[in-house]
Amino acid sequence: IAGLNAVAQAAGKKYFGSATDNPELTDTAYVAILSDNTQFGQLTPGNSMKWYATEPEQGTFDFTGGQQIVSLAQQNKQLMRGHNCVWYNELPSWLTSGTFNATELTSIVSTHCGTIVGHWKDSWDIINEPFNDDGTWRSDVFYNTLGSDFVSVALNAASAADPSTKLYMNDYNIENPGVKATAMQNLVKSLKSAGVKIDGIGFESHFIVGEIPADIQQNMEAFVALGVEVSITELDIRMTLPSTDALLEQQKQDYQTVISACMAVEGCAGMTIWDYTDKYSWVPSTFSGQGAACPWDENLVKKPAYDGIAAALQG
Ligand code: G3I
Repeated sequence: IAGLNAVAQAAGKKYFGSATDNPELTDTAYVAILSDNTQFGQLTPGNSMKWYATEPEQGTFDFTGGQQIVSLAQQNKQLMRGHNCVWYNELPSWLTSGTFNATELTSIVSTHCGTIVGHWKDSWDIINEPFNDDGTWRSDVFYNTLGSDFVSVALNAASAADPSTKLYMNDYNIENPGVKATAMQNLVKSLKSAGVKIDGIGFESHFIVGEIPADIQQNMEAFVALGVEVSITELDIRMTLPSTDALLEQQKQDYQTVISACMAVEGCAGMTIWDYTDKYSWVPSTFSGQGAACPWDENLVKKPAYDGIAAALQG
């Protein structure tokens, strides 16, 4: 077949894309595949647009790492997804160790989101992982100081900086209906009724082989019914190592199931895998004994999962 992105676009989706990270860009064989825009029509920087990287000192912005990936995407005629603006993790120490009151933190969030969205336009994960798995708000510096208002502060600053950028909220364990998905849906409703711009919801989709949520498609439709688009933003499907033919076959079916859900929902804009190769997956360093989560193996050879994705894109 033509590449994954070419097939996705022919079927009416905006893109099929991949995350990447700056240290990987010295690997020329890796970059050659990443840069093939018939394969990938969109890139997400895995780390270099996070707060610690973009505003390491208060009010001092560093665009170098992010720009390296944006420039590569532009050179390859690929879309860019900004990741991310407000997240509890990977914050600079000036922010986590400072004691800011509500007025000060409002200004800090507004300046940060306005500046980075004004600098790199396209689509952005403005709010990242705001909820606990039980649907309550995550306790972090933003919620603890501003309550849920931090969400509208960030979205309003981003929308003022660039009205055409698609503004997203992104989370995991919202792919299936449940308390966490409901919390996100309630947030969408309250933002919309308050007139705050929210364009989309990211389903991260870090899954486990054989344990794909059963109702992804139905749940996508529930979000779309609220007047937002959805995207699959960080898809990977890990297994307990060593990988076997049976696990790889199950993984192929699982990728096919997830991609098919997006293809079946008109309001699902696009799909991004959280890097395309096992060589650079985040999984083994986070989940001991697990890995092989991506559609290309450590030697940059396509796995059965690739064919599962291709089959789903072709419909
Ligand atoms: O930059 C330092 C480097 O200086 C140091 O030598 C090295 C030694 O540990 O660490 C480097 O930082 C690491 C960073 O990735 C860059 O490689 C951090 O330790 C490591 O924790 C960090 O992991 C990233 C993680 O987010 C936390 O930010 C992963 O690469 C990245 O794939 C992962 O991505 C997240 C999304 O942003 C949000 N959704 C979940 C997803 C997976 O966890």
